Amino acid sequence: MNTELDGKRALVTGGASGIGRAIANALAAEGARVIIGDVDAAAGQTAATEITGRGLHARAVHCDVTKESSVVDAIANVRATEGALDLMVNNAGIGGALAPLTRSQADDWDRVYAVNLRGVFFGIKHAANAMPDGGCIVNIASIAGLRGSSLLGPYGATKAAVIQLTQTAALELAKQHIRVNAICPGWIDTPMLQDLERARLVRQIPLGRIGEPAEVAGLVVYLASSAAAFVTGSILRVDGGIAS
Ligand code: NAI
Repeated sequence: MNTELDGKRALVTGGASGIGRAIANALAAEGARVIIGDVDAAAGQTAATEITGRGLHARAVHCDVTKESSVVDAIANVRATEGALDLMVNNAGIGGALAPLTRSQADDWDRVYAVNLRGVFFGIKHAANAMPDGGCIVNIASIAGLRGSSLLGPYGATKAAVIQLTQTAALELAKQHIRVNAICPGWIDTPMLQDLERARLVRQIPLGRIGEPAEVAGLVVYLASSAAAFVTGSILRVDGGIAS
């Protein structure tokens, strides 16, 4: 087994499904002690059990990133059982309704904002306070935060804000030896794509295919590793070239 992240304590929000689940799997495979924090506690438990079934370390805690108290509790749980946190992956996110701005609803903006942006803010704030010896924070943004995205108004706006928040956090937390980076995936094969027409998506992607969750997870492993010791405030795309 590769042990680049041996014993590192990693909390992955939204780790029960899709990209977060692949991140949890990849970190555990590198020797990390993974805690899956998901609002869907049963799915989180299933994902953790799959990892422990392979002889690796994982467990699940309930975490609703829209509620600051829930993020505080999840991180307190990690501190109580693991001592501290080394890696925080702010991955939980929702797509919101597909609608042009002229028909976009305020409720949808509030819902998307609560998960995708407030949730990342809570994750950064409380994870940093649980990293007395330094650490690493990875935020999962999106290429939708780098450019306009028709029908994804609130989603794109929150992801652009996550990119900006990442850069501010990198500046503020550097003195505490906490590196903060963001990953911008393009279209990745997860349940989030279920309402979209896949053939149309593929036609837009220079590499001619939708990405796999494990291809995002590989970047998280890199950012968490010693190979990325000088990398902070970076925004890394993994998108098959679509935002080139
Ligand atoms: P997914 O829908 O497969 O998984 C999202 C997970 O987040 C689920 O387990 C869900 O229960 C959890 N979650 C939702 N609300 C939550 C909350 N309030 N608190 C805690 N957990 C919550 O989605 P996917 O595709 O894996 O997305 C993961 C991240 O990747 C999101 O931030 C998404 O915006 C981002 N992303 C996804 C892309 C894609 O094409 N699938 C492209 C670019 C970015």
